[in-house]
Amino acid sequence: MKVAVIGTGYVGLTTAVSLAMKGHEVLGIDVDAAKIEQLSNGRSPIYEPGLDQVLLEMLGQSKIRFSTKLLEAKEAQVVFVCVGTPEAADGEADLSYLHAALQDIASLHEHSPVERIVVIKSTVPVGTGDWAADSLRRCNQLHVVSNPEFLREGCALEDALNPSRIIVGADSEEAVAVMQTLYSGLSAPWVITTRANAELIKYASNAYLAARISFMNELARLSTVLGTDVTVVSHGMGLDSRIGPQFLRAGVGYGGSCFPKDTIALLKLANQHGVTLGLLEKVREVNASQPVWFIEQLAQKIPDLSGKRIAVLGLAFKPDTDDIREAPALRILAALQAAGAVVSAYDPIAAKAVAALFPDAEYVTAPEAAFVGAYAAVLVTEWQECVKLDWKLIKEQMERPLLFDGRNAWPGDELKKAGFEYQGVGRS
Ligand code: NAD
Ligand code: UGA
Repeated sequence: MKVAVIGTGYVGLTTAVSLAMKGHEVLGIDVDAAKIEQLSNGRSPIYEPGLDQVLLEMLGQSKIRFSTKLLEAKEAQVVFVCVGTPEAADGEADLSYLHAALQDIASLHEHSPVERIVVIKSTVPVGTGDWAADSLRRCNQLHVVSNPEFLREGCALEDALNPSRIIVGADSEEAVAVMQTLYSGLSAPWVITTRANAELIKYASNAYLAARISFMNELARLSTVLGTDVTVVSHGMGLDSRIGPQFLRAGVGYGGSCFPKDTIALLKLANQHGVTLGLLEKVREVNASQPVWFIEQLAQKIPDLSGKRIAVLGLAFKPDTDDIREAPALRILAALQAAGAVVSAYDPIAAKAVAALFPDAEYVTAPEAAFVGAYAAVLVTEWQECVKLDWKLIKEQMERPLLFDGRNAWPGDELKKAGFEYQGVGRS
């Protein structure tokens, strides 16, 4: 099929490339001309494992091309909308990019009025798909489908090719049939429903995952006081098939471009309808205070951080991505610098982006270098490079061998035996 994808960020580019891999003919559209030029030259503007190589292959096979102009997609039978829906000043989802994309689709349709499916993949408040269908009604032959995306950054391509489920919110059988052709070959359960249900499934999924994390982070605080180990507790809980093992890792809090913005957007949506989601409010509160709590633990060990060198390992909001949106590392760097600490930071990919926000920190190019002369080291993001380390060398180089493991990813018992002071999150 001929497909256009509006927005070539994490979701749009991954969607475009994975559809090309399925044999469709894809045109990726973005307002960012520099991005389009880079993509046309076979370079991915985002760091996402495996994406660069497949992008080159798809360009080589002429399965994908890029442009700033949607009007080049006159023959497209399906147009995906994958633009950002960031948090607006009031916490609601900012739909301005989506509105602009819909206008472009209306113009495209005026130039080439063919039967066409508009697929909204961006995460949008309940009612947006129905509103889009109403506003595009003058363009008859356009069907609007809500098809939320569940990929994770760091394994986006793998998730797009092996989705956990395909949710399709639609009000026409033709649209559903086109979606089935488009995704044929993907072995995932389908839920065909209303656009509103599809939209709420997306928000509810992210809110629930965020809730699991905050639940464990609160338990970690209790574990610290009780002298229990939250990693053993989560393991024991996760063996219950009703609970499952995923998203029970306590740490320095969740970050990223989605959980923070989607939880507040869902709260705002509920408030607009006169409903208070008290549990979700608490989830966000716990998440906001988790990095603060973590730094307080460090301050108990080093009451005066002023002038002390602290190593910070990992800056992206999670491993295997360059994305620093709402990364807990930003809050931790701010707290350390406010306390007068000298920060030496390492991240294999995201250091440059963080340096633009925190120019006073020192950025090293090898993980071990961050520990030199440090009074403590903090693991914020569990990149493999930040976990598998030469501990013998590090022990010799630190001023004080104090390790704060914000992801419970360093080998605590071994490190204690090797003479380090080790403190994880919620571990005795
Ligand atoms: P992003 O910021 O990485 O990419 C958005 C892209 O859209 C940018 O390249 C921007 O230049 C482009 N754009 C904006 N307005 C445009 C327009 N009018 N025409 C063409 N291009 C335009 O965003 P993202 O992280 O890919 O997220 C996109 C949507 O998908 C959001 O709603 C997000 O919540 C949702 N989502 C994201 C993820 C994720 O892991 N990042 C996962 C699932 C869902
Ligand atoms: C998340 C969801 O997992 C995706 O399904 C969804 O599509 C996406 O949001 C979205 O809507 O954008 P993502 O934000 O890429 O994906 O990353 P996650 O793996 O979910 O991690 C989010 C944050 O939670 C990270 O900061 C991570 O460190 C943290 N986390 C995750 C924990 O603190 N504990 C855990 O057990 C799991």
